[in-house]
Amino acid sequence: MSIIGVVASATGGVEQLRQGLVVPLVDRGHQVAITLTPRAAEWLAPAERWELERITGLPVRSHPRRPDEPRPHPPIDLFVAAPASANTVAKLALGIGDNQALSILSEGLGSTPMVVFPHVNAAHARHPAWAGHLETLRAAGVVLIEWELREPREPGGRELPWARILAAVEGLGG
Ligand SMILES: Cc1cc2nc3c(=O)[nH]c(=O)nc-3n(C[C@H](O)[C@H](O)[C@H](O)COP(=O)(O)O)c2cc1C
Repeated sequence: MSIIGVVASATGGVEQLRQGLVVPLVDRGHQVAITLTPRAAEWLAPAERWELERITGLPVRSHPRRPDEPRPHPPIDLFVAAPASANTVAKLALGIGDNQALSILSEGLGSTPMVVFPHVNAAHARHPAWAGHLETLRAAGVVLIEWELREPREPGGRELPWARILAAVEGLGG
């Protein structure tokens, strides 16, 4: 049993988080501690957030604690950031920790095993800094899950590659 820190950004498919990632991890015997970016927290319906809290038995975090408050999550053995927006990936690579999700990922980078699924399209990947961001994360030991890049506004939502993400978590010992 590992304690898995699940982090999710505001991208399409974040509504699949429970069925795609959280339930399978809990079913495999892991304790799951979820942190959302503030924007992702706005996107998830309150009932979905409560359901995630019921399943994991821990608060879903999206804001930093006050200094006099106890830490709401236990120490994390392995992080999985999925889906991670282009914005979150870029800030993680640059060491910007301007929300709770980024601060825990940044602190864990290089010392805690980490799987990241950048949920990006071809336009995000054409940004001149993008390849460098991925290289920075790879060099820090992050396992990146990449998928076929589509142009923005191509029709049809996609199931996120949960099976590959779960396999990568297992591969890191989670
Ligand atoms: C409907 C919708 C879908 C989006 N999907 C994506 C996406 O798949 N990938 C991405 O990088 N950004 C996507 N975005 C943009 C992000 O939500 C935006 O960059 C946001 O600032 C990310 O914040 P966060 O990284 O703090 O979660 C989407 C925005 C909207 C409105």
